[in-house]
Amino acid sequence: VLKMTDLDLQGKRVLIREDLNVPVKDGVVTSDARIQASLPTIRLALEKGAAVMVCSHLGRPTEGEYTEENSLKPVAEYLSKALGRQVPLVKDYLGGVDVQPGQIVLFENVRFNKGEKKNADELAQKYAALCDVFVMDAFGTAHRAEGSTHGVAKFAKVACAGPLLAAELEALGKALDKPARPMVAIVAGSKVSTKLDVLNSLAEICDQLIVGGGIANTFLAAAGYKVGKSLYEADLVDTAKAIAAKVAVPLPVDVVVAKEFAETAEATVKAVSEVADDDMILDIGPQTATMFGEMLKASQTILWNGPVGVFEFDQFGNGTKVLAQAIAASPAFSIAGGGDTLAAIDKYGVAEQISYISTGGGAFLEFVEGKVLPAVAVLEECAK
Ligand code: 3PG
Repeated sequence: VLKMTDLDLQGKRVLIREDLNVPVKDGVVTSDARIQASLPTIRLALEKGAAVMVCSHLGRPTEGEYTEENSLKPVAEYLSKALGRQVPLVKDYLGGVDVQPGQIVLFENVRFNKGEKKNADELAQKYAALCDVFVMDAFGTAHRAEGSTHGVAKFAKVACAGPLLAAELEALGKALDKPARPMVAIVAGSKVSTKLDVLNSLAEICDQLIVGGGIANTFLAAAGYKVGKSLYEADLVDTAKAIAAKVAVPLPVDVVVAKEFAETAEATVKAVSEVADDDMILDIGPQTATMFGEMLKASQTILWNGPVGVFEFDQFGNGTKVLAQAIAASPAFSIAGGGDTLAAIDKYGVAEQISYISTGGGAFLEFVEGKVLPAVAVLEECAK
């Protein structure tokens, strides 16, 4: 695909689609990772002398309806501070915007526009008419074929990939296409069903597949262990067996259990064979954490999606902490993605030591599943 870094943007009107879909509470951005990741692209476009228009969605408003809750106002305020200059939030932009080279504006939530979700040509043409160059940089939304991620690229004079999108594709490609071996993947989360495609895809690629959370409980049940009151999916036990037949899935030897799922719940370490009928498995045990940690330290490629315990409660956070630290200490090329994973990385302060942290949630998973990301596919079409 064509890349923004290869283009002369001097005096050009440049529309950049970012994924600035960040959590907001009481009008303030509560996690800025996605905004931070978009800053180098925005700064570069400004340095190159472009008239910069940035757009994004935020949340899932009813299409065509303005709500304050889904306004990008907090993001405009954040950007203004981060860039040290006023970033005006423009509400009416579809008919044309006054922005000069070296200046920047932020468009209000694209999902307030009729036709955005449906990827209507009429809207996409309006976006395209605003710019000389369209830059798709929103990796986190690349799995959505919407007006501002897909349609606009079809009609824009020039459509290219921004530096963040390019970096995401390169990092994920490095981990998945020809990974240095051994490769260890961690897939954790509450349900096998929501991560089934990811598990199946990684079973083909990695050497060891560490599972955690409710997913691990289903694998434990498949291996004949009692999981008590733990979250698990009885109907996916056979699926778990089939996955374990394709790739090494190391199982926990000890677990941390509690009688209830609560912040104040008392944590008890037990051998995996000792789980009682009224126990809930809420983390891997210390012996297991050490064992998995050693595997991670001895690997050359790591892909991490999902915390292995209920790390929001400290007494069930040790497993995730030990694995996060092992990934940090490992010489492997490591890539992490997914909302909960990023929260865990923040909590244990290992962001600097992870080779690449993806801004994608759903997009990250779909890429790992081997699915085509429509917003990337359209750039490939344009490049032909
Ligand atoms: C995300 O947060 O995963 C992306 O911003 C996409 O948001 P969506 O699921 O509302 O399309």
